[in-house]
Amino acid sequence: MAGKKIAIAGSANMDLIMRVAHFPKPGETLAGKDFTTAHGGKGANQAVAAARLGAQVSFIGSVGNDSFGNQQRKEMENEGINLRYLKTDPALPTGTAIILVADSGENMIILDAGANQALHPEDIHLLKPLFSDVDRLICQLETPLDTVREALELARTYNVFSILDVAPACPLPPDFIAAADLVTPNESEAEILTGIKVDSLDSARAAAERIAGWGARHVVIKLGAKGSYYFGDEEIYAPSFEINAVDTTGAGDAFTAALAVVWGTLPTAEALRFANAAGALAATRPGAQPSMPSLEEVLALAGSLSV
Ligand code: RIB
Repeated sequence: MAGKKIAIAGSANMDLIMRVAHFPKPGETLAGKDFTTAHGGKGANQAVAAARLGAQVSFIGSVGNDSFGNQQRKEMENEGINLRYLKTDPALPTGTAIILVADSGENMIILDAGANQALHPEDIHLLKPLFSDVDRLICQLETPLDTVREALELARTYNVFSILDVAPACPLPPDFIAAADLVTPNESEAEILTGIKVDSLDSARAAAERIAGWGARHVVIKLGAKGSYYFGDEEIYAPSFEINAVDTTGAGDAFTAALAVVWGTLPTAEALRFANAAGALAATRPGAQPSMPSLEEVLALAGSLSV
């Protein structure tokens, strides 16, 4: 499964993280603790996760000409990620995310996209040589929507399998969804897309059916601690693993990256199990990129796979 060539177009942020006993109400001043910073951004998180799982990763993104941007670049370089297509925008600061992590492990994220907004459709046009040489594309929604769409369309032109992680979710036109081969919302994202509240397998099926009806051939709904659900050529529910969740930030990114690494190599049920294991392991450690597991860790938790 190692060696898959994956292009990831998306965000790179600096995460400013604080732990809280509970999330504040409007007007409330709350004592937090354990303030720390960690490299984040859904795109960069997925790039690091895929690289640690053995993929050859190219990251397409935009950071600012500042210390957060330089640190992120260095970090991804250390992970062996190809940064030829990572821009430095002269005018905007590197994206930042303020993250509150509750004792339950759940998080709340506020994002200032900064330089992520400077990844333009024209930048994607420069990627033709890259797209003729990769197996997969992953996009999320922390960069401009017209850029994401351009990347999905270029992937289709070059016959590259594309994965659209609809995070953070916003209502999207059906033809946007149809431009992707695989769509991976979590429960709340599936609800924003479809209007269907996802809180059971039946409602996950109903939401996935609607998304598939818009033209996505494969839909995977991330069910968090409950696992994941696939709707497409068949229908599969894959339960997750018992873990002690410390911080769920980046767990969904670990899941999507892991799915991209093994998609088409493992049978779908096993690919879901592998991705569930990656997401679960990421939730056992603090931070986004620092929490991404190694291939050995994921294989050990996922159990026997037909590779
Ligand atoms: O998915 C987690 C990520 O969302 C964080 O790293 C933060 O930067 C936001 O992009």
